[in-house]
Amino acid sequence: MDRFVRNFIIISIVYLGISSILGIAMLADPSLMALKFVHSHLNLLGWVSMMIYGVGYHILPKFAGRPLKYPKIGELQFWVANIGLVGMLSFYTMDAYAHNRLYMNISVVFGILEVLSIILFFYNMLATLLPKTAS
Ligand code: HEM
Ligand code: HEM
Repeated sequence: MDRFVRNFIIISIVYLGISSILGIAMLADPSLMALKFVHSHLNLLGWVSMMIYGVGYHILPKFAGRPLKYPKIGELQFWVANIGLVGMLSFYTMDAYAHNRLYMNISVVFGILEVLSIILFFYNMLATLLPKTAS
């Protein structure tokens, strides 16, 4: 298993742990509902998407009977996806508690990084899966 595949799976479980603790805290203290976006996206981009990236990178090329076309892009995507997610949610949290347009703008820039990581996955997977096998 490639290192970045393992890292995606491990970090996704870490995000599940953090987001579940935040979910419980939101139930206990309604003022934390201001962080619903943080909770939902730690889950959806952290836990769910990163688990799918890890399992997808490992399994989908095997279905197609060929190796992943660009493992280096996979490694890069791991870093871009994590820096994008943590940055987007950190600055969103700062804006939630100390409203400041600058924090929200920085959150958007990290969000664009997150979208870039999705494009890297999309490109790598299609480049691996689409070519017809030589018969
Ligand atoms: C122990 C685990 C969890 C707890 C305690 C928890 C708690 C919560 C709470 C309190 C809310 C706010 C609900 C409201 O608006 O009234 C919420 C929203 C949400 N949670 Fe969780 N959650 C947990 C796990 C998950 C998981 C595993 C996922 C996804 C894989 C998830 C996805 C969402 C989403 C998408 C929302 C936003 C829903 C909306 O806007 O209506 N949560 N959660
Ligand atoms: C770069 C990626 C993404 C960005 C920038 C993004 C951004 C947003 C924003 C700005 C909202 C509105 C939040 C609010 O009402 O305060 C939202 C809501 C939501 N998004 Fe995303 N999203 C992304 C990816 C995803 C993915 C991959 C999923 C599902 C797998 C998802 C599921 C949802 C859901 C269920 C809601 C409604 C719950 C909530 O309000 O938190 N999003 N998203």
